[in-house]
Amino acid sequence: MSQDKVLSVNNLTINFKTDNGILKAVRDISFDLHRGETLCIVGESGSGKSVTSKAIMGILANNAIIENGNIMYRGENLLEVSEDEFYKIRGHKIGMIFQDPLSSLNPIVRIGKQITEAMLINSDKLKIMYNDLISDDLIHYKNTLAKMNIEIANERKKLDAFIAEIKAKEHVNAQEKADDKKAIQERKLAFKEFEKKTRETYENKAKELKAVLEETEKKAKQQVKEYKEKVTAEHKSRLEELQKKLEAASSEDEKSKAKEAMENEKLEYINKLKLTKAEAKKRAIEVMREVGIPEPEKRFKQYPFEFSGGMRQRIVIAIALTASPEILICDEPTTALDVTIQAQILELINRIKAERNLSCIFITHDLGVVANMADRVAVMYAGKIVEYGTAEEIFYDPKHPYTWALLSSIPDVDSKEKLEAIPGTPPNMIYPPKGDAFAARSRYAMNIDYREEPPMFKVSDTHYAATWLLDSHAPKVEMPKIVSERIRISLEEDRCDE
Ligand SMILES: Nc1ncnc2c1ncn2[C@@H]1O[C@H](COP(=O)(O)OP(=O)(O)O)[C@@H](O)[C@H]1O
Ligand SMILES: [Mg+2]
Repeated sequence: MSQDKVLSVNNLTINFKTDNGILKAVRDISFDLHRGETLCIVGESGSGKSVTSKAIMGILANNAIIENGNIMYRGENLLEVSEDEFYKIRGHKIGMIFQDPLSSLNPIVRIGKQITEAMLINSDKLKIMYNDLISDDLIHYKNTLAKMNIEIANERKKLDAFIAEIKAKEHVNAQEKADDKKAIQERKLAFKEFEKKTRETYENKAKELKAVLEETEKKAKQQVKEYKEKVTAEHKSRLEELQKKLEAASSEDEKSKAKEAMENEKLEYINKLKLTKAEAKKRAIEVMREVGIPEPEKRFKQYPFEFSGGMRQRIVIAIALTASPEILICDEPTTALDVTIQAQILELINRIKAERNLSCIFITHDLGVVANMADRVAVMYAGKIVEYGTAEEIFYDPKHPYTWALLSSIPDVDSKEKLEAIPGTPPNMIYPPKGDAFAARSRYAMNIDYREEPPMFKVSDTHYAATWLLDSHAPKVEMPKIVSERIRISLEEDRCDE
C-alpha cells in the first residue's frame, strides 16, 4: 500500500450554532488519504460524515464554526486558503459527488452544457501550462510556511490551555498566586522564544525555496512565451502557404478546399491556446462514454428529466471527472438508487478510480458497501472516529463495540435480512455524552465508559480504536458471536476461492 499522502485531516473540530445551543458535529477527527486509495467513512446518519466532506470542499453552512484543526492538501491548509484559490481547488483538484444527483443538476439546462460549463471555466491552456510547470516548487514553498504556522499554532494552544488551567484554579494564598503568575510569565516567554526560533528556522528555508520558486516562475514564463511564439509562427507560415494555394487555385473546387483548410488552421491555432466550445463538447462526449452513457451524442442535448436516476448519477460523475480531479469525494452516492443500479454505480466508481489512479473518500452508512470499495476505513460515531484501519483489519479484526454493532447489522447475503439492529439512537450532539459516546447503547460498556473518553488505542501501525476494552486493565471480552461467525465463514469462503 502506498504511503503517499494526498490529503490529511488533523484534529478537525466543527460546531454549529443552533437555536438550541452549540451542536458538536465533528469532534477532533484525524485521518489521511493515500494516493490511489479509497478511504471509506462509515457511520449511522448524523455521525458527522457529510459535515466532514463539506469541510474538505469548503462548502460548510454559514452557521458552522471551525473550532480547531486543519485539512492539508498540497501544502496548504484548505481551511485557510482564500475564496479565490479555493474556487480553483473545488471541483478542479477535488471533485465531489453527492447523494442526490437531482440536487446537483440544474433541471432547466441541457446535460451537455452542464458538463462543458465546468470545463470552460479553466480554458486558458497557456495558464494551465504555466501552473503545471511551477506547481511542485510552489507546493514546497507553501508547505514550509504552512508547517511553520501549524507548529506555532499548536504551541500557542498548549500555552492557552496552561493559562486556562491556572486561571481556573482556586488559589489558597498570595504566595501560590504569585508563583502561578510567575509560571505564566515564564511560559509566555518560552513561547515567544519558541515562536522566534521556529520562524527563523522555517523562514530561512522558505527564503531558499522562494528563490527556487522565483527562478522556476521565470523559466516557466519563458517556456510558455516560447511555446506561444512557436505555435503562432507555425500558424502564420501555414496560413501563408494556404493563401498561396488559394491564389494559385485554378478551379472553384480547389479554391473552396483551400478556404476550408484555412478555416481549420485558424480553429486549430485557437485550440492550442485555449479550450474551445467544440473541443469541450468532444471531451464531454468522451467522458459521457467513459461513465457508460449510451448514445452520448444524442444524450448531450437532453435535459436531466429525460434521464433515469442511475443515468443522472453517471452524469454527475462525468461532471466531476471533466476537471481531471486528483481526489474524488463520494457522499452516499448510491443511497437514492435501487439496489441493482447501486451495484452498477459502485462498479463504475471503482473502475474509474483504478483507471485514473484517483484517491477517493467514499462516505456511506452501509458497511456492506464499504466491503466492496474500501482500502481503508474510518468508523464514525457521534462526531468522532472510533475505529480506523485497513479494510482487512476492520472486517476481520474489529475492536470497537460500535464497529461490532455495525457489522452485526449488515443484512445477510442470502436472506437479505438485517441480523441485529443497533439498539437505541445516536445521542443529541448539543449535549454529547461524557466518556465513550456509544456506551449507552453498548452491552460491553464499563463504568469508565461513562466517565472518561477513551484514547485511540493502537492495535497495529495502521489500526486504531477508541475503546476502553483495549486498555490493559479491561476484562477480556469476545466480539459478538454473530460477527465472529461471519468472519469465520467468510475466511473459509476465501480459502475455498483460492
Ligand atoms: N447547518 C447545520 N446546522 C446545524 N446542525 C447541523 C448542520 N449541518 C449538520 N448539522 C448536524 O451535524 C451533525 C452531523 O451531520 P452530518 O454530517 O450531515 O451527518 P451524516 O453522518 O449523516 O452525514 C448532525 O447532528 C446534523 O444535524
Ligand atoms: Mg450525510
